[in-house]
Amino acid sequence: MTEKRAVTAATLQRARLRDEKTVWLTAYDAVSARIAEDAGCDVLLVGDSLGMTCLGLDSTIPVTLDQMIHHTAAVVRGRRHAWVVCDLPFGTYQQSPEQAFASSVRVLQQSGCDAVKIEGGTHIAPTIAFLAERGIAVVAHIGLTPQSVKKFGSYGKRGKSESERAALLQDAKAVCEAGAICMVVENIPADLTAEISAMVEIPVIGIGAGPACHGQVLVFHDLLGISATNPPFAPAYSDLRSMMSAAISRWASDVKSGVFPQ
Ligand code: KIV
Repeated sequence: MTEKRAVTAATLQRARLRDEKTVWLTAYDAVSARIAEDAGCDVLLVGDSLGMTCLGLDSTIPVTLDQMIHHTAAVVRGRRHAWVVCDLPFGTYQQSPEQAFASSVRVLQQSGCDAVKIEGGTHIAPTIAFLAERGIAVVAHIGLTPQSVKKFGSYGKRGKSESERAALLQDAKAVCEAGAICMVVENIPADLTAEISAMVEIPVIGIGAGPACHGQVLVFHDLLGISATNPPFAPAYSDLRSMMSAAISRWASDVKSGVFPQ
């Protein structure tokens, strides 16, 4: 069997030019990374959704850089060829381009991942440029940006009003011109995504943003039906939560009844 070649930033751009969709999935440990990669995922995103999926937090805001590095290093150990992206968590890049650079260097050196993702549009574009000029692969993230939930008050759809639409188009243009490798667009109207995808030259990866994207990303626990609840735009393709619970409760009852061990 020929070994699959490592996915790189260039692979993603080539896929866009060939009109091939790329498949992104979040991963938080070596086992889920290997399962996702073997199942055909091109990119493994160590999202700061880690806070909710694995750490029992109720938002991404308390997630730390050390936690992201710890989980990203595990994902890197589990992957063979997928591109691994690590979210810079809240408070580790917004202060200044220099702060973002220092955080990115720690993430890249200590986890071995390929790129960092940061949330924000026009206001964060100078930071993206600062990182890109210093050789760092940056994935931008616009639309619903969960680290700003306290400011917006909800995880609702963005870009519904004319003014928000115009601002998001401006954001997309700014992060692209700043040198982002690609951008995630989250929870925005499908027709706005289509406008963005046609306007920018980098791959646009959607989550809750309709089909007019160059790739799609979902959260591992949502896709597999492990999360207690899913956002409306994230269908569960399995019901692992029930399956896990059934297996554990069968074993527990075998222990109690003395059937296990034999
Ligand atoms: O943190 C995360 O998992 C993300 C995805 C939802 C895009 O940013």
